[in-house]
Amino acid sequence: MFRHNATDSKERILYVKKQTTDIDSIMEKYPGEPQYLISLLQDVQAQYSYISEENIRFICDHVGVPVTKAWSVLTFYRSFNIEPRGEHLVRVCCGTACHLKGAERIAEDLERHLCVQREHTTEDMHFTLETINCPGACAVAPVVMVDDDYLGATNQADVRNYLKKL
Ligand code: FES
Repeated sequence: MFRHNATDSKERILYVKKQTTDIDSIMEKYPGEPQYLISLLQDVQAQYSYISEENIRFICDHVGVPVTKAWSVLTFYRSFNIEPRGEHLVRVCCGTACHLKGAERIAEDLERHLCVQREHTTEDMHFTLETINCPGACAVAPVVMVDDDYLGATNQADVRNYLKKL
């Protein structure tokens, strides 16, 4: 449920102000020209792990392109995130080998267990759940990556137990 009070507003203003200050220093590195759009988006994502709507507007103003241009870039490249990311990134491989060994059941179980749909972040910002396509560990399918760790030949219970420790 969405809650809102004066403290939330104040914190949000401070947070937006901090992002604005930080993004200024990122933008200073690039001339205000359209060809720097992607580099700026990459740098801002590297800084915040996602690109907020406010920052998309700042970047577009800086390089002189319409916001629709930035959206087309952001939606074309899957590597860009337009939502805040959780503290831990849980990636279920849904490539062919993993799919055949039950990856879909693991992904569905995680959606239920974490109360979040894939490609989204839990309300408490603890986990982001994503699906990926073959990180190259097919020999130990099905594979789930949690941050930089690989859980190979895994199943729903193993993944839940692993996440419990985080
Ligand atoms: S298909 Fe999952 S690791 Fe290759």
